[in-house]
Amino acid sequence: MLVSSKIVNGINGTVKIPGDKSISHRSIIIPSISKGVTQISNLLKSEDVFRTVNAFQSMNVNIQINKDDVIIEGKGLNSLNKSDKVIDLGNSGTSARLLTGLLSSQNFDSILVGDTSLSKRPMARITKPLEIMGAKFDNNHNKLPLKIYGKKLHKIDYELELPSAQVKSGLIFAALNTDGKSRIIEKKITRNHTEIMLESFEADIKINQVDSENHIFVNGKKELVPKNISVPSDLSSASFFIVAALINKNSFLTMKNINLNPTRDGILKALNLMQANIQINNKRTTNGELVGDLEIKTSELKGCELESDNARLMIDEYPILSIAAAFAKSPSIFKGLGELKVKESNRLDLIRHNLYNCGIFCKVSGEDLYIDPTKKISPKKNQIKTDNDHRIAMSFAIMGMKLGVDLYIPGSEFIKTSFPNFIVSLNNVGGNLSE
Ligand code: S3P
Repeated sequence: MLVSSKIVNGINGTVKIPGDKSISHRSIIIPSISKGVTQISNLLKSEDVFRTVNAFQSMNVNIQINKDDVIIEGKGLNSLNKSDKVIDLGNSGTSARLLTGLLSSQNFDSILVGDTSLSKRPMARITKPLEIMGAKFDNNHNKLPLKIYGKKLHKIDYELELPSAQVKSGLIFAALNTDGKSRIIEKKITRNHTEIMLESFEADIKINQVDSENHIFVNGKKELVPKNISVPSDLSSASFFIVAALINKNSFLTMKNINLNPTRDGILKALNLMQANIQINNKRTTNGELVGDLEIKTSELKGCELESDNARLMIDEYPILSIAAAFAKSPSIFKGLGELKVKESNRLDLIRHNLYNCGIFCKVSGEDLYIDPTKKISPKKNQIKTDNDHRIAMSFAIMGMKLGVDLYIPGSEFIKTSFPNFIVSLNNVGGNLSE
């Protein structure tokens, strides 16, 4: 149980944010199917990423985890071996969707399992388009556990039904090992870390922008050529610290080497609309990814209205953005948050439930979230409901430091899935969390 208590001074200093989770998963998957050795630095060493590591180790890829780097010896697109056990992906939705695509085009069968949360999450979004390519599954009403019958697939010309980088990436991985040229169309652009890394590994991949759509062409069966990877720090993890510094008095926080990929930086745009004092310095590109250093100062935030199109550019940041909105001087409306219902928990419902219990007026109408900090309601309960969701736990840890009553946060051990050092890192810059 995590207890979050009010802080008296601000959030100050420099914090080292761990490697980006999305890029870390891809930094294991892509080198594992390339031909040669890759050295990776700043990989996120969290439970979710280790699920992906274990999966490839169980398929006979040599992955060496050292203190300062990770070394992967890939042997090529078709070099994976059947795992002699079920592949347990724990809490990790990204591993589940990406591996389903990759493994459906291998010449062996696999079984994917996950924890209670992952076993409730939808898989049809990835299995359905893969079935069009000829993939075969035993699929338990489209949830994990999932048996994948590895098969030779055929190319696909497919328009994504929902904006999801996980689905897009799963299809790209299937297409990499499939003869011919596949086309995947995304009408709404989503995070493009897979495409960026595959381009640098010399995959036969082309992205054509057609009006506001992306047409991604993948010509399969081309072996990938390793490139060393330096994983940038995770903007999603940084967001908890950004909001903590913004809403607490006398704060000045710096964070270096943060990923600013424009398909992922919606949180900065939203906070900018809320008049947050965030300065970005030293913008540069590493391994095709835009990064920069951030300086955050205490700010008097105002509320904002975000249209549904924002959601895919910052889907993981709504829990912490809601905490910022709870301390703004005017109301906020965040629209089109349906996807939040199928994350590690029903995040839309948990945000509403927990904010309300903390004494912040909020309501959900359809898929829209309204937060009005100007309406006074009395706090109901100081026990947070997390449903073992790491981002809900971290967001309400930030809430407790500002609120004035201790917040009790169960399920905080799930923070390890994405940010193992969260508590220590936050306390080092002025946080007040105890376990
Ligand atoms: C991710 C994509 C997003 C995001 C998840 C990581 C990825 O999911 O919520 O945390 O690494 O591709 P969707 O693509 O399902 O929106």
